[in-house]
Amino acid sequence: NKDQYLLAIETSCDETAVAIVKNERELAANVVASQIESHKRFGGVVPEIASRHHIEQITITLEEALTEANLTLDDIDAIAVTEGPGLVGALLIGVNAAKAVAYAKQKPLVGVHHIAGHIYANRLEKEFEFPLLSLVVSGGHTELILMKEHGSFEVIGETRDDAAGEAYDKVARTLKLPYPGGPQIDQLAQKGSEVIDFPRAWLEKGSYDFSFSGLKSAVINKLHNASQKGVEYKPEDVAASFQASVVEVLSTKTYKAAMDYGVKQVIVAGGVAANRGLRAMLEEKFAGSEIDLMIPPLHLCTDNAAMIAVAGAVAYQQGHRAGWDLNANPGLDL
Ligand code: KG4
Ligand code: ZN
Repeated sequence: NKDQYLLAIETSCDETAVAIVKNERELAANVVASQIESHKRFGGVVPEIASRHHIEQITITLEEALTEANLTLDDIDAIAVTEGPGLVGALLIGVNAAKAVAYAKQKPLVGVHHIAGHIYANRLEKEFEFPLLSLVVSGGHTELILMKEHGSFEVIGETRDDAAGEAYDKVARTLKLPYPGGPQIDQLAQKGSEVIDFPRAWLEKGSYDFSFSGLKSAVINKLHNASQKGVEYKPEDVAASFQASVVEVLSTKTYKAAMDYGVKQVIVAGGVAANRGLRAMLEEKFAGSEIDLMIPPLHLCTDNAAMIAVAGAVAYQQGHRAGWDLNANPGLDL
């Protein structure tokens, strides 16, 4: 019974990341080269710059991960890579690096969906219990996903316009806060109070879908009208009021879906899972229930390759294999 090692590569957005897991869920290496500093002055991720950074960083990151795990490529049993969704030029660097390594060493190759990765980040902390519900909230996604078994994902609700993280980043830009705005608003919100009553987008009765573009516009209009009337809102109060709306809708819909589907576990995933307001409200809602609420530690919320390795290990166990024609798929379905 030899130990099994899986190496994973993630380059879907602005982090070049390589990780190695042992026996499906033990972390042996986790290296993340962030590009945030290079994109900051543009106020967002510039795809072309992201691709160039990935090219520069991928080999170094790969070597660092192997060093950290004290392994060589010969010890690796399979290679996993994020095939989508994400920025096509960024994804291509990871996919081609993974193919090159797998081909050179004749190792099996597995393609992984980025969101499956965000969900599986939690399995580094605790074993899954099905059925489970996952709230995925990131810069590109806001989804409620029901899982009845490993590798099976049923989207029961999703955003109809902006993702939650996208709304955070856009409102942050309106408040002239640096990129990425989510953590900045979160921090400001702690110091402010909910003086503005922003709308909550509940949508039709019973719907698990989300919508954040109306809220974003409401914030922009409120600030615009106020400045015309010479009224001045404190940025911390705007942040607190905006965050209250996002967090209330996300946690109320998650709680309702968890009850309706009778799940055993609720998992929160993606960059916005780092939000302190969201973490606190979810903990409060689920405190009295039988449901096990799992919120990952901060370093597993944002993009990394450890999550791709854990999701990839499950897919590998289930017999999924990618061919040498594996391609980046920016619009890949879960
Ligand atoms: O999952 P992630 O790292 O990348 C994507 O796949 O999108 O998520 C990044 C998003 C950004 O929009 C960022 O502003 C947001 O997560 N974010 C937060 C917080 N930390 C990161 N949003 C609200 N509060 C936070 N503390
Ligand atoms: Zn992500």
